Amino acid sequence: MANKSVTFKIKRQANPNAQSHWEEFELPYKPGMNVISALMEIAANPVTREGKATTPVTYDSNCLEEICGSCAMVINGKARMACSALVDNFEQPIRLEPLSKFPLVRDLAVDRSVLFENLKAVKAWVPIDGTYDLGSGPRMTMEEQEAAYPLSHCISCCCCMEVCPQFNESTGFVGAATISQVRLFNSHPTGAALKRERLAALMGDGGIQECGYAQNCVEICPKEIPLTRSISQVGGEVMKQAVGDLFRK
Ligand code: SF4
Ligand code: SF4
Ligand code: FES
Repeated sequence: MANKSVTFKIKRQANPNAQSHWEEFELPYKPGMNVISALMEIAANPVTREGKATTPVTYDSNCLEEICGSCAMVINGKARMACSALVDNFEQPIRLEPLSKFPLVRDLAVDRSVLFENLKAVKAWVPIDGTYDLGSGPRMTMEEQEAAYPLSHCISCCCCMEVCPQFNESTGFVGAATISQVRLFNSHPTGAALKRERLAALMGDGGIQECGYAQNCVEICPKEIPLTRSISQVGGEVMKQAVGDLFRK
């Protein structure tokens, strides 16, 4: 019996201004192989299927267990995490492309800093006054903890933004991940100190009203975060605050 192999078709681009092109690679199959382990093998021996020497494919990865969020790419047309993408589950050749809505760095690596800028804009943190011992914080009920916990699973992979029809330059939409983090930090008893500022940051251009509720985000999220529930809940709070502000004037 012929030895089993795995084939990849990878979109290459040396820098943001270079022309992109495709290269094919063929690797011996190994049980449990995933896309990142295949990319590591290609890096160790960067030779195309036709036997031509090439450069190692650039990609981001770190944790290799779907926690750091860095390895998001488009695999056979769908945004997902490469470290948990078992080759057994894909039709071959397995096509690898960079996320399309983020500035390209090289090959499969993109610059996802827009998400981190958005998180800064909505103050996605719990404010504490210094690093000294502040004593125990306010208690959260079990129900509050259970509602917050799934939201804390966000790995900042940006898959939800990649598939969102509203996440583009013309809207400047912040995207579902940022909105869901607003829900998370506003639901925290100490984090709620910044609730008004977070909701205010989601008003106006690029804010929550840009969402068309197409629900692509919730379907693609690798952590199954209830994104549309977050959007509905935060949307209601933004609206309430906006109307309240209007009457206060
Ligand atoms: S519901 Fe649709 S428009 Fe709104 S964030 Fe999700 S994918 Fe984007
Ligand atoms: S909400 Fe889900 S898809 Fe979006 S960045 Fe977080 S983990 Fe990724
Ligand atoms: S390498 Fe960390 S999520 Fe894939």
